[in-house]
Amino acid sequence: MASPITQAILLIGGLGTRLRPLTYQRPKALLPLLNCPLISYEIRLFARHGVTDLIMAVSYGADAIKDELGDGSRWGVRLHYVEEEQRLDTAGAIRNCAALIDGPFFACNGDLVYDVDLTTMAAAHLRQSALVTFCLRRVDDISAYGLIQCDDGGRVTAFKEKVNSDETGRNTVNSGFYAMDPQVLDYIPDNQPYSNETDLFPALLARREPLYGWTDTQPGYWSDVGRIETYLEAHVSLLHGAVSWVKPDDMRTGIHEGAHITEPVAIASGATIAAGCRIGPDVAVGEGCRIDEGAVVRRSMLWPDSVVGAGAHVNETIVASEASVAAHSSHSGEVIVPSDA
Ligand code: GTP
Repeated sequence: MASPITQAILLIGGLGTRLRPLTYQRPKALLPLLNCPLISYEIRLFARHGVTDLIMAVSYGADAIKDELGDGSRWGVRLHYVEEEQRLDTAGAIRNCAALIDGPFFACNGDLVYDVDLTTMAAAHLRQSALVTFCLRRVDDISAYGLIQCDDGGRVTAFKEKVNSDETGRNTVNSGFYAMDPQVLDYIPDNQPYSNETDLFPALLARREPLYGWTDTQPGYWSDVGRIETYLEAHVSLLHGAVSWVKPDDMRTGIHEGAHITEPVAIASGATIAAGCRIGPDVAVGEGCRIDEGAVVRRSMLWPDSVVGAGAHVNETIVASEASVAAHSSHSGEVIVPSDA
């Protein structure tokens, strides 16, 4: 797969307020998903389509992001970082990357796990000479999304935020992935907060600019990891193989022979699991975690260096790095952070 568009801007500067308190510990782009940073799934998608220059629009948590992702060579791409001193919102952040853009480019929200045919999308964008091509998803319930209506030729006719029904019956919503012509940068004010959804896109439509919707003929997995519930859902779906090219990095070594593992689970290196534990299904155990004797963990994420005490029961729960679950305690549907956080 070789997309004719080879640059992308990944928007990863948001505060991630809906994922607090987890995002106090690390920015959303670095939330572990199967023990890899959330943003690595978009990086790998772009890499698979030959999009090799990825411009990371960073702000909140910028230093941690740069430290963890580095230059991108481990994924075979080049990562460039453009930092906003004050967050510029989604369109402002794109404009802030203008100096690095030298042709048509992709832009995307950085909190998605998406399996989409970017090569075909890029070709459609160029063929139609669109200013912006919106990657659309069909969903049953449109109420939580931005509805995008198009005419029969695919040209965008309306943006409607969070409405309950679509009189066209198409139910196509904004997936958060775009292909853009560099001219779009001229419509975004420099160095001030400006939003894609509420400022830029309606303004472009009002000017009758060529905006097109594109829908993948074979839609792959798509998840917006904006809330704790969707974060857990994405974790479970990926463990169950929702994206064919994602396989859990399983490095299990320190498991006592008297522990019982029910797949699917992903266990990182340096994790120890003691005798009598029952782990899984649907569990990720991060690097350096310790699970003490007789603990039971199901449908949960243990971030690196967290501890589950002996005999504890952990279900549908996220245990952040350095946090400890007390021995013999019971937790369901919780987020556990270190006691000094
Ligand atoms: P919430 O606070 O929970 O709504 O999360 P968020 O801050 O991530 O906002 P939202 O989910 O609406 O953002 C969509 C994407 O745009 C995410 O990947 C954000 O990181 C990114 N984003 C939002 N605001 C900014 C910004 O001001 N600058 C940059 N560079 N990215 C942003």
